[in-house]
Amino acid sequence: MAGTFITFEGIDGSGKSTHLRLLADFLRSGGLDVVLTREPGGTPVGNRLRAALLDASEEVDPLTELLVFAADRAQHVRRVLRPAIEEGRVIISDRYADATVAYQGAGRGFSAELISEIIALATEGLRPELTLLFNLSVAESNTRTRRRTNGQQAGDRLDAETAEFHTRVRDAYLRLAETEPDRIKVIETNRSVEETQECVRKVIVPFLIGRGHIRNANC
Ligand code: TYD
Repeated sequence: MAGTFITFEGIDGSGKSTHLRLLADFLRSGGLDVVLTREPGGTPVGNRLRAALLDASEEVDPLTELLVFAADRAQHVRRVLRPAIEEGRVIISDRYADATVAYQGAGRGFSAELISEIIALATEGLRPELTLLFNLSVAESNTRTRRRTNGQQAGDRLDAETAEFHTRVRDAYLRLAETEPDRIKVIETNRSVEETQECVRKVIVPFLIGRGHIRNANC
């Protein structure tokens, strides 16, 4: 059976990581073998790149940032994603190439041409079959991030960017979803975790049944 590659995207504080864990527990409790991974940091070298990229005390030039996210992705694609897909497994990644379009493209202002060339180089054309985009207003995401950090300024270097930056990122994600409605499904997260998770399962379970990974909806 062909493997299936799914990604979760969204602005910081949108809840994607929580929903990824809840979904993985649910699928695993039904006996499905899911590979959970993330960008940046889906490999040992990627974890070291992640630490450098997100360190709030580092001054990382935007071009360096773009290239290091791409380096992390190249390693991830070659060492984790491709092998897992060849083994026919279900892979869910917390972020992938859409994050570069949103953060480095719209956020930092690199041209669409450069962004797509760099993504093509790093991914060798590997694209997710399905992407869940967790949507939330920038104001609400700020409130959540501050709650998480006990009212302090948000944790990592990108979290600490301005509201304008996060608004550009959010708008770019929503534009991507409009351009690719078959691949990208928008999940609204301005409600309880349980309600949002139910919505996540309503999208994922039929999709995995359609791909032959789940035999019935009781999984
Ligand atoms: P993430 O692990 O989702 O952050 P958190 O643990 O705070 O939820 O992502 C780390 C940061 O990296 C996030 O601010 C988005 C950023 N990022 C990019 O700017 N470009 C990229 O290509 C990727 C994959 C992530």
